[in-house]
Amino acid sequence: MGLFENILVPIDGSSTSLRALNSAIEIAQMSGAEITILHVIPAVEESVKTRVAKFEKQLEQQGKDILDDAAVVAKKQKIKYKTSLVRDSPGHAIVRLAKKGKFDHVVMSTTGAGSAKDDMLGSVSNYVVHKAEIPVYLIR
Ligand SMILES: Nc1ncnc2c1ncn2[C@@H]1O[C@H](COP(=O)(O)OP(=O)(O)OP(=O)(O)O)[C@@H](O)[C@H]1O
Ligand SMILES: [Mg+2]
Repeated sequence: MGLFENILVPIDGSSTSLRALNSAIEIAQMSGAEITILHVIPAVEESVKTRVAKFEKQLEQQGKDILDDAAVVAKKQKIKYKTSLVRDSPGHAIVRLAKKGKFDHVVMSTTGAGSAKDDMLGSVSNYVVHKAEIPVYLIR
């Protein structure tokens, strides 16, 4: 059993998250690990669902596009990879998957498409660093 066998790589489509994907690909090339590229479609509250049905569709399409683009990047390298699209609160989904026992590491970036500045930790990274029970590699 190697140190790296199954790596969870959450991405939000931002350039920093794609940098983390590239680091994860390098780790996979060195170790033979499989990477699972995960995008979480942010869950919208049930009560406002009908009003935002169109927005939900957009988020879903955007999530598919993010993973399709990431798959193009991963496919060019000689690594094993999967993609996964779920709908949830991003932090919760990442930590839940990280707890299932399959993954040995999370590789993600410190900031994403939202409001965290360069020297900060975004809310999702912050949540995952505090709650995940496996090592989390944060890429700047
Ligand atoms: N919806 C998501 N699905 C998968 N991974 C995500 C998602 N949102 C964030 N991440 C991961 O967390 C990293 C950091 O993003 P985070 O959301 O913590 O910071 P931010 O977007 O800059 O700030 P904030 O969202 O708190 O305003 C992303 O680059 C990505 O790796
Ligand atoms: Mg964000």
